[in-house]
Amino acid sequence: MENNRLLITLFGSTGDLASRKLYPAIYRLYKYGHISKHFALVGTGRSQWNDEKLRAVVLDSIENEIDEKEHAEEFVSHFYYLIHDVNKKNDYSKLKHLADELDQKYTIEGNRIYYISLAPRLFPIITGNLKDQNVLTTNGFNRLIIEKPFGHDQASARELQDQLEESFEEDQIYRIDHYLGKYIVQNIQALRFNNPVFANIWNNQHIEQIQITLNEEVGVEDRAEYYDTSGVLRDMIQNHMLQLVSLLTMNKPENFNSKEIHQNKIDLLSHIHQYQDGQELKDNTVFGQYGSDDNQTVTAYRDEKGIAEDSMTPTYFAAKLTIDLEQWQGVPIYIRSGKRMANKATNIYVTFKDDTCDWMNHLLIEIAPRQGYQLYINHKNKAYASHLESVPLSYYLNEEEERKLPGDYERLIFECILGKRENFAHYDEVEASWNFIDHIFEVAENIQPPTFPNYVSYSQGPKEADDLLKKDGHHWLSD
Ligand code: BG6
Repeated sequence: MENNRLLITLFGSTGDLASRKLYPAIYRLYKYGHISKHFALVGTGRSQWNDEKLRAVVLDSIENEIDEKEHAEEFVSHFYYLIHDVNKKNDYSKLKHLADELDQKYTIEGNRIYYISLAPRLFPIITGNLKDQNVLTTNGFNRLIIEKPFGHDQASARELQDQLEESFEEDQIYRIDHYLGKYIVQNIQALRFNNPVFANIWNNQHIEQIQITLNEEVGVEDRAEYYDTSGVLRDMIQNHMLQLVSLLTMNKPENFNSKEIHQNKIDLLSHIHQYQDGQELKDNTVFGQYGSDDNQTVTAYRDEKGIAEDSMTPTYFAAKLTIDLEQWQGVPIYIRSGKRMANKATNIYVTFKDDTCDWMNHLLIEIAPRQGYQLYINHKNKAYASHLESVPLSYYLNEEEERKLPGDYERLIFECILGKRENFAHYDEVEASWNFIDHIFEVAENIQPPTFPNYVSYSQGPKEADDLLKKDGHHWLSD
């Protein structure tokens, strides 16, 4: 058991993310002893709350995690609320005063995490004031956790980074990509590099293709304002999808430290092939937007509250990626992600080459709804005149294990406390990913826009996404 010394300042403590994800995550860290008596949290916001109100909200949000009421009450006694307007300099003096007081009270020794769970346009205002108003400590550490989106394109990401770097060094900035906190995603490296059976064949000599599916049943929900300016490329592909691509194809780091892991991912991301012109883009990508369902019982994207009736924002994207590196020459990586799909499916298939048999060996890495792996092997079936058939060797977490498993945010906040940075995106990864996405939008301007809507809700997406693989003699392996 560790007993980390820590003061968390949470900007946006009255928000939805804080209650849904952050308080339960922090409580579990407390429950399992990773933080305890040398811990405090200052929640800030403009609402006229006080300590009691914040503590009541926190208690409510951790309800399902509580084993012992007394322990939970002790936990919330470490929470303090400060009415704070991020634009008012004076309010940072109040924050400094409270932070220093709590530092003393809980003997925290200057270790601070600033978690900004607010709109990205506020990031630089907050970080600038934290520095200028001397809220940052000189003993202990100062770490910043921020949520996506990190910019809207490469230029705005660069601008944001320059602003943040006036107050925080890159190695103090922890950009959350919650996919990197997922248990199975964190296992991709172990799977690839700690199993000779895969490590020795993880290249274009042996891998035929890779498929990544990030499909969701939900639609835009109540996030129209954000989503309609982002769409699936900025919401899912630039971050989660390209992170998965890089984890699956990056070179093996010699030492598995953050610096090398980041560097190898950056190298990989900078070598994803960019579509040169409209024709290449058309041949390799499919954009989609959901309509209603067959019975017209659900809302089409363009009819969702807050969405323009002629919106051209894609809610679905599929593509064939290739990597301009010798070891990946000739290996297609098919990616797809959509909202309002038939089912939630977050998975990766790696198919190994085989000329001797009808069925290839597939490795299925399943992230959701179940968590585990299946390796499809060929064996002879049970009939007298037996034929080869494909059967899965499986490992899946059971319900009990799933329930006990640390959540994405819990893992990531814990890693930030430990100063482990590899599961947070480095700025150069973000920039390389934006370059790829920006280029798609640039090239797309030269082609005829698709006709939207082009897939019905709760379906498998546009038919063109099937054709994309058919051309290469493949089909989507996931439902
Ligand atoms: C978020 C996106 O980053 O990821 C959402 O903004 C999406 O639009 C979500 O629904 C999906 O995450 P998960 O963990 O449910 O696959």
